[in-house]
Amino acid sequence: MDPKIMKHTKSLVNIALWLMVFITLPTGVCGQEQKKVSAIRSGELWPDENGQHINAHGGGVLKYGDTYFWFGEHKAEHTSNALVGVTCYASEDLLNWRNCGVALSVTDERGHDIERGCILERPKVIYNQVTKKFCMWFHLELKGRGYNAARFGVAVADCPEGPYKFLYSQRANAGMWPIEFGEQEMAVIDTLDGANYKEEWTPAWLKAVAQGLFVKRDFGTGQMSRDMTLFVDDDGKAYHIFSSEENLTLHIAELTDDYLHHTGRYTRIAPAGHNEAPAIFKHEGTYWMITSGCTGWAPNEARMFSASSIWGPWTQHPNPCRGPKAEITFGGQSTFVLAIDPSPLTSKYIFMADIWRPRHPIDARYIWLPIEFEDGKPVIHWRDEWEIGF
Ligand code: DGJ
Repeated sequence: MDPKIMKHTKSLVNIALWLMVFITLPTGVCGQEQKKVSAIRSGELWPDENGQHINAHGGGVLKYGDTYFWFGEHKAEHTSNALVGVTCYASEDLLNWRNCGVALSVTDERGHDIERGCILERPKVIYNQVTKKFCMWFHLELKGRGYNAARFGVAVADCPEGPYKFLYSQRANAGMWPIEFGEQEMAVIDTLDGANYKEEWTPAWLKAVAQGLFVKRDFGTGQMSRDMTLFVDDDGKAYHIFSSEENLTLHIAELTDDYLHHTGRYTRIAPAGHNEAPAIFKHEGTYWMITSGCTGWAPNEARMFSASSIWGPWTQHPNPCRGPKAEITFGGQSTFVLAIDPSPLTSKYIFMADIWRPRHPIDARYIWLPIEFEDGKPVIHWRDEWEIGF
């Protein structure tokens, strides 16, 4: 080859190699050091260690060893449908997060439960100390069927960040009645007939829903399962808490010891109360649950419940939010309460919520606020910015 052409080719190859290095290296390594996140600023962009806004919506956090893992829905630019799957981020300080990639990926296999374009929401992961498996549960709607499938999905992994293997999806507790349905309740159930309630939202219809109209309707095929969270109690027993019965009633269902199935024991909370977005925590022996009303992607007023047993009875309390936009949960909707180790910290519990942006889903924002206690009850004050205090 002509030495001039060879020299020219060599320098072109060198330039191309350098360009590749610059394009593939994270911003932090390229000299433009990504500024460390030093405080939580709810509602603002939250850059990960590469400077990209964190994409893990409707999520939950699991601590494993000294690391926190944040799992959430990957949101695309123009659709809320799942084009990617469940993402995972890792952090030691809850402020600066590394992108660990896709923990559970949707698939291109046609007709698969988690086919790309399905609706996959509110993933939560719990660790099973006995099987040493990471168990992920999520709300699943089959591709092209809107919100009609109303299923939960389960996936499992050997490492926190995955990859998670999809196991199955279905409705909940087919063929099982709630534990509180005794002789009296079953006598009422026998009289309930959907044909007698043609008009919805009448007092008679609401009463019938509260008595179990939809539980009876779905008894054979399984109970509907939409917005959800998971909770592991001090004794290692785990529970799946989800909006059921056309989003009118929450169910708490016990999980098997491997955390991969329901045992069949479940109870109903706030029958006909129309709650979504459950987030639960336990403080000094009391179970607290924060939920929202059902207004799609639009925010509404948070609700709060407490109980001294997970099986109830659950008592409703006023909205725990305080400050600007407290009447619409500061513009967000609950997703999770993260319990962190106490002592030098501002608060033992962090309330996590999503500010949805349905027209530009990827730009949805996060609300993280400390939960404080006033007169023995949780309250959530708005803060423009706060430090976790590690
Ligand atoms: C409210 C739910 O909480 C969200 O997870 C999502 O399902 C939207 N509804 C869809 O409108």
